[in-house]
Amino acid sequence: PIGALVNGVPNYSIAKFRLAEINKFETDLDRCLEKQATEVAFTEKEFDTLSLDGVGYAHNADASEKSFAISGLSMDIKRGDIVFITGGNGSGKTTALRTLTGLYPHSEGKIVLNGQIVSKMPSQEYRNVFASVFADFYIFPKPYTLGEEGREKLREWLKFFEIEEKLSDKLTELHPERLSTGQRKRLALALALAEERPVLILDEWAADQDPETRERFYHELLPYLKTRGITIIAVTHDDKYFNCADRRYHMTEGQIEANTV
Ligand SMILES: Nc1ncnc2c1ncn2[C@@H]1O[C@H](COP(=O)(O)OP(=O)(O)O)[C@@H](O)[C@H]1O
Ligand SMILES: [Mg+2]
Repeated sequence: PIGALVNGVPNYSIAKFRLAEINKFETDLDRCLEKQATEVAFTEKEFDTLSLDGVGYAHNADASEKSFAISGLSMDIKRGDIVFITGGNGSGKTTALRTLTGLYPHSEGKIVLNGQIVSKMPSQEYRNVFASVFADFYIFPKPYTLGEEGREKLREWLKFFEIEEKLSDKLTELHPERLSTGQRKRLALALALAEERPVLILDEWAADQDPETRERFYHELLPYLKTRGITIIAVTHDDKYFNCADRRYHMTEGQIEANTV
């Protein structure tokens, strides 16, 4: 079924696909969809706690060239938390998010989800806990992972982000190329929200939004999601809004600074 196909491709691998491979993948998905229109069920709807205990990961660990590593990351996150990760460029925030979500295998420390230790090579089931918008997000021209109900949710979120009229009525084709960068990012977030995963991961999402959207993001969307029990882990530079978080972890050179709130 389509679900197995989509879930069988790790997000990280998708990111590494060349364009030709993406096109082939889309053609294959199209063929599958023609045969069988099933909804992708995500396996891990329940979320209670996530903790990182001394987690580390190194880029190019075995290469002779200079490598970068995050290390000793410890965080305690519970359902409905709004957690911000801050820090300068290159401090390891994106690497931390990718490790936390299981896109990179952690080489040291422990990740514990709902009291259970997560494998060093996290499973797809683990990765399905998260919906994410990274800086290098890719939007497929069709909302493959959403069934009819999911598309209705997508419509509601597109209204919220005020880009509904930019998209086709049925939302079977998305045409991300017809949107501006900021609008494309809103579409990416609307898609992530429509998936209704328990934990939302955002990497500098608001960075290229206009001030009004940024205001709504921090003061409407995040509090609303919190009331719905969605957990948010977001990298941000918007110091004006740091007080919107329940907790903030500040990173320097791959580590969380000791005294962050
Ligand atoms: N895929 C990669 N391979 C090798 N080095 C990487 C890779 N991704 C990031 N890095 C390096 O890791 C460091 C931290 O990057 P990143 O986590 O993206 O930082 P931030 O998100 O805080 O700006 C940077 O020095 C960057 O060059
Ligand atoms: Mg980054």
